[in-house]
Parts: sequence; structure tokens; C-alpha cells
Amino acid sequence: MNEFRKIFKDKILLAPMEDVTEPPFRLICKRLGADVVYTEFISAEGLIRDARKAKAKLFFYEEERPMGIQIFGGNEDVLVDAAKISENAGPDFIDINCGCWVKDVAMRGAGAGLLKDIPKMSRIAEKIINNVELPVTLKTRLGWDENSIVIVEVAKILEKTGIQALTVHCRLRHQGNKGDADWSWIKRIKDSGVNIPVILNGNVKTPEDVKYVFDNFEPDAVMIGQSAIQNPWIFRQSKFFIKNGYHESEPSVEERIDICIEHLRLSVGLKGEKYGVLEFRKHYSGYLRNLRDVSKFRLELMQYNEFEPLKEKLLQFKEEYLINSEF
Ligand SMILES: Cc1cc2nc3c(=O)[nH]c(=O)nc-3n(C[C@H](O)[C@H](O)[C@H](O)COP(=O)(O)O)c2cc1C
Repeated sequence: MNEFRKIFKDKILLAPMEDVTEPPFRLICKRLGADVVYTEFISAEGLIRDARKAKAKLFFYEEERPMGIQIFGGNEDVLVDAAKISENAGPDFIDINCGCWVKDVAMRGAGAGLLKDIPKMSRIAEKIINNVELPVTLKTRLGWDENSIVIVEVAKILEKTGIQALTVHCRLRHQGNKGDADWSWIKRIKDSGVNIPVILNGNVKTPEDVKYVFDNFEPDAVMIGQSAIQNPWIFRQSKFFIKNGYHESEPSVEERIDICIEHLRLSVGLKGEKYGVLEFRKHYSGYLRNLRDVSKFRLELMQYNEFEPLKEKLLQFKEEYLINSEF
């Protein structure tokens, strides 16, 4: 196995998620055990138009490595140019999104839309690989619908193009990101003789799930999306569970609040006070999950627009929580 492919072997990855896997969240997940992280998908068209929003998404912290920049689009030449621009940002690899189910993307022949045109998907992979030095990986789904589960065929075709790893979101296009995932396809891909790393994704929610899929379907790596938003500790917890066969204790209130403040600080540092605070709101529930009497507190946090008072409020909550726990 070449050096690059080893970064996936037996690893647990953070899935790319639009508006979620921004640099601060990726860094926190990394510190909590995520082995490889990805940017959210970045529009190839946006990148070549020099669009400010798309360009900003290329940023990452050195500490995130190994990390990949994910791009999406439907035009082969535009994707090649976008891959070159992404390469200049200095990630460890480029990932091509062929799995996005959203109508605006999939119906325009990008994302999961490429599952309806496998020769084009393959051409895109090949052209990008021929035009960048960095390793190229690809993320897709089982197929467009129940009648077209093409993933084994797709994996074989893509391996020939020279991609260095394949992530399979084990759902169909119409399922979006919800509902059952059929993990058995990972084993079927491996049994078909495909040799590149195959990364299992979809509906992996707990440390037990992570162990179960490693034990039963032989993925090279497991990628976690939505469950990491609610529980960024899932990476560390899964590794502990696999190693010891029992669960590590839940993170303490001190750890939760300290990491929440650090995440918020990174967010404000990156986006400025206004957006850093505003766009952080989706993360409170993950940090406060399962603590008693937090719903009112969470609502209170929503009233704040500045970092310092928010930090004070969080520290005060931590102190009071600890005092109350003593009785
Ligand atoms: C809010 C959100 C945004 C997403 N954005 C992306 C994206 O930018 N690129 C991508 O490949 N997948 C994206 N996905 C799909 C996830 O990467 C993942 O494949 C999916 O959520 C299934 O994994 P899970 O069941 O562990 O969440 C997104 C999912 C969610 C929930």
C-alpha cells in the first residue's frame, strides 16, 4: 500500500458537511480523534470565477492535516481548473464530490447526478488526476435509486482511473442524508477485488456502530457525519470502545465547556465577532447534550452576539453546574 493510502487504514474520518465542517469544527474534531478531515464541498465554478466565498473555503489550519479539499461541479474543464486552484492551497489531497443529492446540484449533472453518467464521472476523475500532483479521491453513493445500485461497477471503473480512495455513502440519492444505509455494499466492493481504500459512510451513529461496521464489512476507514455534530467526541469514544470493549466515561462538564469556548474562539477568530458568534449557534446542543436543565440555558446563549460575554456566561454555567453536582 502506498504511503498516501495508509492515512485511511483503520481510521475514523469526519465527513464533509456544508456550513458545518468549517476549519474550527474540523480542528476540534481532529483534536478529539478524527484522523482525516475534509472541507465542505466547494463549487468549482465559484473557485474559477474567483468568488470570495468559495475561495475562503480553501483555508485550513496546519494542525488539521491530513486533510482534503472537496470540490463539486458538472463541467469537466472547470473541475480541472478548480482542482488546480485547490492544489495551490496546499491540502494533502483533493476529493471529488459525486454524491450530493440536492436538486440544484444533482439535476445539473454534478454531485449524485454523475451516478447517471458514469463515463463522465470516470472522465472527470481521470482528467483531474492527470492535471494535479496531489492524490485524488472521490465520494459517491450506492446509486441513483433502488433499480440502479451501481457502486461495485463504479468502484472498479474508478480504481482504473487512478483515484487513491473511494468513499461510499451507503444510501441512494433520494434518501438524502436520512434513513437506513446498506453497509453490506462495502464488503461486496472489497470482495469484487477492488484494491484502493474504501471508506464506509452513512448512518454510523455510535462507537458500537463503528466497531460493528469494521468487524463485519471490512472498510478501510469509517466516515462519520451528522453524529459528530451532536457529539464531536465520537471519534475518541469509538477508538476507546474498539480498544477496550467498553465505553469511556462521558466528557465532563469542564471539558465540554472548555472545548465549546475554544471552538467559539476559533470561530470568531476566523469569521469575525458577528458571524463567528451567529454561525456557532448550531454547535451548542452538541456541547451541552445530556447535561441537566440545559434547554433554558441554550436559549439564553442565543441572545448573545459577542464573544466575551458569551464566554463569561459559559464559564459561569460550568461553575454553577459543578457546585450543584457536589450536593
Ligand atoms: C448538513 C450536511 C451537509 C453536507 N454537506 C456535504 C458536502 O459538502 N459534501 C459531501 O460530500 N457530503 C455532504 N454531506 C453528506 C455527508 O458527508 C455524509 O455523506 C452524510 O451525512 C451521511 O453520513 P452520516 O449518516 O454519518 O451523517 C452533508 C450532510 C449534511 C447533514
